[in-house]
Amino acid sequence: MCGIVGYIGSLGGPLRPLQVVIEGLTRLEYRGYDSAGIAINAESGIEVRKKAGRVENLNALLEAEPIPEGKSAIGHTRWATHGSPSDLNSHPHLSPDSEVAIVHNGIVENHQELREELLAQGASFSSETDSEIVVHLLGKEFARIGDLEQAMRNVVKRLEGSFALVAIAHRDPDRMVAARRNSPLVVGIGEGENFLGSDVAAFVGYTKLAMAIDQDQMVVVTANSVTVSDFDGNAVEPKTYEVDWDVNAAMTDGFDTYMEKEIHEQPRAVVDTLLGRRSKNGELHLDELRIDEAELRAIDKIIVIACGSAAYAGHVARYAIEHWCRIPVEVELAHEFRYRDPVVNSKTLVVAISQSGETMDTLMAVRHAREQGARVLAIVNVFGSTIAREADAVLYTHAGPEVAVASTKAFSAQIAAAYLLGLYLAQLRGNKYPDEVATYLDELAQMPERMASVLEQEDAVKELARKMSDVESVLFLGRHVGFPIALEGALKLKELAYIHAEGFAAGELKHGPIALVEEGLPIFVIVPTPRRPLLHSKVISNLEEVKTRGARVVVVAEEGDTAVNDLAELIIRVPHSTPTLMMPLVTIIPLQIFACELARQKGYDVDKPRNLAKAVTVE
Ligand code: M6R
Repeated sequence: MCGIVGYIGSLGGPLRPLQVVIEGLTRLEYRGYDSAGIAINAESGIEVRKKAGRVENLNALLEAEPIPEGKSAIGHTRWATHGSPSDLNSHPHLSPDSEVAIVHNGIVENHQELREELLAQGASFSSETDSEIVVHLLGKEFARIGDLEQAMRNVVKRLEGSFALVAIAHRDPDRMVAARRNSPLVVGIGEGENFLGSDVAAFVGYTKLAMAIDQDQMVVVTANSVTVSDFDGNAVEPKTYEVDWDVNAAMTDGFDTYMEKEIHEQPRAVVDTLLGRRSKNGELHLDELRIDEAELRAIDKIIVIACGSAAYAGHVARYAIEHWCRIPVEVELAHEFRYRDPVVNSKTLVVAISQSGETMDTLMAVRHAREQGARVLAIVNVFGSTIAREADAVLYTHAGPEVAVASTKAFSAQIAAAYLLGLYLAQLRGNKYPDEVATYLDELAQMPERMASVLEQEDAVKELARKMSDVESVLFLGRHVGFPIALEGALKLKELAYIHAEGFAAGELKHGPIALVEEGLPIFVIVPTPRRPLLHSKVISNLEEVKTRGARVVVVAEEGDTAVNDLAELIIRVPHSTPTLMMPLVTIIPLQIFACELARQKGYDVDKPRNLAKAVTVE
């Protein structure tokens, strides 16, 4: 997830393009802050200034090296995915002849193949990014046909994955050309000037009239016109709308808080985490692998280390990896791991899960594991973070920046990444045939749609939270992969609404926790699919036990599961035929919405809960 901005116009003086783009980048920083850059189409040629770090670093550079004036400008704020956060990997990228500049948000899945093709033709690259490949292709095509719009049309047809691209060309100074697939792009319509952005936050300070660009569409923007077409060149009737958000609402995409926005971004986070993982011959691959494949084949134990929500994602990973790979998996809180003298050796794979990649407890556990001879694989969201750098292999979650302190989209992305790891190991170690791995990957690819269908039940869950806003204690029960989700549901409620909440394995109920059940106690029950009758019937029994004792039961159950019909105050349905192991991606969503809304009812700041920090960088 990166932020892109474009401006073209003849109003407001020669400094306006610079001013609009810098302002837009500042507002889009929540989309990424690994680097910021700007390109201006000046009379003398395209001029670029870019710098690693926040927009303030770019501003300092612009003071030291002022950029010439021009009629159009494009800008980018980066959340690194391919290539570390550095000056060279920053956008905009220039074509080798400096004729064309682009900014890109997304992931070009077939970048390796295209890079090889360009290298064979004598190209050399100055960055490690997938985006530079695009500007090479676009530069060549523009040089060949001299029409930026057609050149873009020809290039996007060669790209796989996700992209919102904005391009300017020195020899074509009166227009910007943009294209999108799977990454957002909107146009802001002004008078004598027009804007482009990843979202309306980029330009809402200048115009409230916007135009949505849909999937596989291109747009040509001049100072006085906006023309939309599909990738085949057919004209498209543009859809304009009035933005009624102020600048703050625009930054949270119309939601009141980042947490709500991030809950809704979960399907996207999973899509992005899955992008670009399969090679042409169908094999799965990780991002950075500094472990010999023979070593991975020889491992005889996996230990997942993590803290908080990341540890619960690790519990889900255990069910999947053990089932698919038949390797024993332990899950350990990172801060406990290194003080208990764990049995770790060169045949142990330690999997460290961390959104920030900077959690000190997890980092120390990683170092301890490596000192004991274990290999460490990190599942991390922040590119180039300390844990990613110190691990022997990395699988990045592409959730984009998570601003709210409580983890939501990073948690879902960690679970998706854990499935990928499980399938990767199953493929490598021969536990699953390639067609079996492909079937699981196809199922996984359907999960974002299923997640979106659960998000549609948001209103009912919010209504429930409003009705329960004065409760003092809530229990969560789950079994199998529902157990870590019960734990995560309880954590969300504790950290956001500051009320007592406990997650239990449903089977544990009669070994003690049932003593807590009294008239009116809310209990959420994550019910496994009836397609697993043994598991299902046991949880239904637990449900009846708490119901008889007067609990207010809320159920998360599969569509068509009639066994729960008369047992709950509210039934939240998850899509039928979701694979059992993948259920956590859908069952967690109502629990997040419930905690968020209940906290809001109490008047708490859900983005910054008391006493908590986003990255816990002390032990
Ligand atoms: O950045 P990390 O994933 O390593 O952070 C781990 C935990 O601190 C984090 O998940 C924490 O529990 C969150 N507040 C959960 O919402």
